[in-house]
Amino acid sequence: MSHHHVPLISAQGLVKSYRRDAETVHALRGVDLSIGRGQVIALIGPSGSGKSTLLNVLCGWEHVEAGELVLDGALGASKPEDLPWGRVALVPQALALLEELTILDNVLMPARLSGGVKPMMGRADELMSEFGIDHLAARYSDQVSLGEQQRTAVARALLLAPLVVLADEPSAHQDAGWSDVLFAAFSRLAAQGSACLIATHNPVVWECANTVLAMRDGELGSKTCGRRMGI
Ligand SMILES: Nc1ncnc2c1ncn2[C@@H]1O[C@H](COP(=O)(O)OP(=O)(O)O)[C@@H](O)[C@H]1O
Ligand SMILES: [Mg+2]
Repeated sequence: MSHHHVPLISAQGLVKSYRRDAETVHALRGVDLSIGRGQVIALIGPSGSGKSTLLNVLCGWEHVEAGELVLDGALGASKPEDLPWGRVALVPQALALLEELTILDNVLMPARLSGGVKPMMGRADELMSEFGIDHLAARYSDQVSLGEQQRTAVARALLLAPLVVLADEPSAHQDAGWSDVLFAAFSRLAAQGSACLIATHNPVVWECANTVLAMRDGELGSKTCGRRMGI
C-alpha cells in the first residue's frame, strides 16, 4: 500500500467531557474520523455539538479521556501535543491573533516559531495580497475589521503549507466573495496533497468538499459526498 493511502490523521472512539462542579458536558462521545491526503472535509452541525472541541483535540490544544489518535509519520510526532510547528495548522474560532503584533508579524508567526522569517516573506506577501490584507501589513490586529482579522488568521495557518489545516468556522466573518477566496485557498492546498477539516455553516464549502461530516451532540454522523447531499 502506498503511503498516500495512509490517513494523515485517524481517530477512534475519541471521548472528551468538560466538568464543572456537578455539571458534566459530554462534548465528544466516541468520535471516529479519518483525514486523508487531498481531502477537504466539511464538518457541520449545530452550535454546541462539539466541532470546536474536535478540532482542538486534533491539534493538541485539548486532551481526550479515551480513544486513539494515530498520526502519519509525515506529521513529525506520534501525539498531537508533540506536533512540530507548521505540519498541522489551526484557524481558531476566536482567531487568537496577537494584538501587540502587526498584521504582517501575525501572519509570519509560524515562520518565526519554526526558525526562519526571511525565506517566508514572499509567501506571506502572496497570501496577504490574495486575502486582501496586504495594505494592512503595518497595522495592529485591533486596527482592522473582524473579517480582516479572520483572513489574517487563515493566512497565518497557510503560511507554512501545512499537511493538515483545521479551520474553525473560517468564513464566519466573511462576505460571499471572501468566503470563495478562502475556500479556494483550502481546496488548492488539498489538491497539493494536504488535507483540510473545516467546521462551517457555509454552504459554499459543501460544494468544494469531498466529504461532509455531520456532528450532533458529540457524535459524528455518516459520511456523505458533498455534491450529492442536495443541501
Ligand atoms: N471549556 C469548556 N468548559 C465547559 N464546557 C465546554 C467548554 N468548551 C466547550 N464546552 C461545551 O462543550 C460542548 C461542545 O462545544 P463546542 O465544541 O464548542 O461546540 P461547537 O464548536 O460545535 O459549537 C458545548 O456544550 C459547550 O458548551
Ligand atoms: Mg465552535
